[in-house]
Amino acid sequence: MRISVIGCGYLGAVHAACMAQLGHEVVGIDTDEEKIQALAAARAPFYEPGLDKLLSEVQATGRLSFTTDISAAGGSAIHFICVGTPQKKGENGADMTYVDAAVSSLLDHVQPGDLVVGKSTVPVGTASRLSTLLKDRHPEAHLVWNPEFLREGHAVSDTLHPDRLVYGVQDGSEEHPAIAILDEAYSAPISAGTPRLIADHPTAELVKTAANSFLATKISFINAMAELCEAAGADVTRLADAIGLDDRIGRKFLNAGIGFGGGCLPKDIRAFMARAGELGADQALTFLREVDAINMRRRARVVELSRELCDGSLLGKRVTVLGAAFKPESDDVRDSPALSIAAQLQLQGAVVTVTDPKALPNAAKRFPELHYQPNCEEAIKQADALLLLTEWEEYRTLDPYEVAASVATPKILDGRNVLDVAKWRAAGWTYRGLGRP
Ligand code: UDX
Repeated sequence: MRISVIGCGYLGAVHAACMAQLGHEVVGIDTDEEKIQALAAARAPFYEPGLDKLLSEVQATGRLSFTTDISAAGGSAIHFICVGTPQKKGENGADMTYVDAAVSSLLDHVQPGDLVVGKSTVPVGTASRLSTLLKDRHPEAHLVWNPEFLREGHAVSDTLHPDRLVYGVQDGSEEHPAIAILDEAYSAPISAGTPRLIADHPTAELVKTAANSFLATKISFINAMAELCEAAGADVTRLADAIGLDDRIGRKFLNAGIGFGGGCLPKDIRAFMARAGELGADQALTFLREVDAINMRRRARVVELSRELCDGSLLGKRVTVLGAAFKPESDDVRDSPALSIAAQLQLQGAVVTVTDPKALPNAAKRFPELHYQPNCEEAIKQADALLLLTEWEEYRTLDPYEVAASVATPKILDGRNVLDVAKWRAAGWTYRGLGRP
């Protein structure tokens, strides 16, 4: 099939490459010239495991191209909308500028029978609004909402092997003509057994925001338990193991630590609350305010624990932060709790050095005032305290004996509860975890 993908960020670039890998002829379109140049040269403009390799492989087949020219969308049977919906400046709601601009620029190039398929995370009601716009100009075209659930760091495999496909069509009917066309686009995952659910527009939009809210709530739940464990002298990691064995609860997403960040969960729960307010259903989501508050308290708690670890004062203390990305296997620092903690420590007088295998260029753009050292060994030399804030494999596997020989004082705060406490203590370290005795 001929497919266009509008918006080539974390979502669109991966989606375009994966659709080409599934055998389709794909054009990726973005207004950012630099991004398009990189992608056209088979270079991912951000770090995502496996994406560079996939881009080279599919570009060699001639099935994938990139351009800034929206008219290249003409002739595609499906147009995927993959642009960002960031948080509005100074407000909780989602900024719909990019989605609206993408759809209106596309309208000149849509043909009868085409599908315009939204994948971005949007406030409920967006699909119906865009469907009206589309139908006004092209009564024979269809608007479908097909939310994307990929995780950064696993984006390629999540896209090629999704755990479910959701199609939101106007009437929610299983007979809707758009379904067969989208089934053809996704024939590979469907024949591999991926469940596919049909819903109406608002339900499909809500599936995404509800899923992200649930995940955020699960993380904040265990972080609230961490607060209690700290007060009661209990161990939250053992608690999570024990409750996670109940398969109604499950162990995944029960890792207590410095809280969630990134370009999705924080802004999605806020946009969801804002939208619920507009719909007169704000009471239904007031719990998300608490989820957000618990999450933000983690950052303050880590600053406090760091102060305790530095004998009550951060002034002039050399603190090394291991990890700047919002999660491992990503160079994304959007709303990264690690980076926000690093900045707060610096503001409170610590001499902060931040290291990360991939995210330092992005981190330096966001917080130019921090000191960055790409080499981990250099970064930890003469540190008064280490803070493990993003659980990259290379930090999880540090040898406590070797590291002890390099730092000024062997003190570590394990912000993700991933280190072997007994091993680090045996090597002479003062160890602090979150929600652990
Ligand atoms: C999330 C959703 O998982 C994905 O389905 C959606 O499409 C986009 O948003 P992503 O932002 O890539 O994906 O990251 P995710 O793996 O969900 O992690 C989000 C944050 O939660 C990270 O900062 C991570 O460190 C944190 N987290 C995750 C925890 O603190 N504890 C956990 O147990 C799990």
